[in-house]
Amino acid sequence: MKRSVTLALWITGSAVALPAAGTSASDIDPRSPEQVFATRCAYCHEAGGWGTRTLARRMPESEAILLERGNLPPAYTEYVLRRGLRSMPAFNPSELTDTELQNLAQWLEDRN
Ligand code: HEC
Repeated sequence: MKRSVTLALWITGSAVALPAAGTSASDIDPRSPEQVFATRCAYCHEAGGWGTRTLARRMPESEAILLERGNLPPAYTEYVLRRGLRSMPAFNPSELTDTELQNLAQWLEDRN
C-alpha cells in the first residue's frame, strides 16, 4: 500500500494523490450524525429497543431513550462507543470513524 502510494506520487509528481493515502472514503466524507444514528443506533436505542429497555432498568424510562436525554457528555458517549458498555457492543474506527464519533457525540448532547 505504502509503496504503491509512493509510486503513484513519483509517477504523477504531485501531491494530488495524497488525500486518498490510507484514508477511507468515510474520513473524507463522514456520514451525518442523523444517518449514523438511524443506521447504527436506532434499532437498539429507539423506544422499545434493547438498549432502551436495558437502560430503563437503571434510570427513568424517559431518560432511557437516548434522543430524549440531552445530558449525555460527549466524552462519555465516545468512551462507551469505543469500549462498549456491558451488553452494548463497541464500535471500532472502521465502523465509525473518529470524525463521525465526535460529531455523533456532540449531536446527541446538543439535542435538548
Ligand atoms: C446491539 C444493541 C445496541 C446498539 C447497536 C447500540 N447500543 Fe448503545 N447501548 C446498548 C445497551 C444494551 C446499553 C446499556 C448497557 C448497560 O448499561 O448494560 C447501551 C448503552 C449506551 C449508552 C450509555 C448510556 C448511559 O446512560 O449509560 C450510550 C451513550 C449508547 N449506548 C450510545 C449508543 C450509540 C450512539 C449507538 C450507535 C452508534 C449505540 N449506542 C448502539 C445497546 C446498543
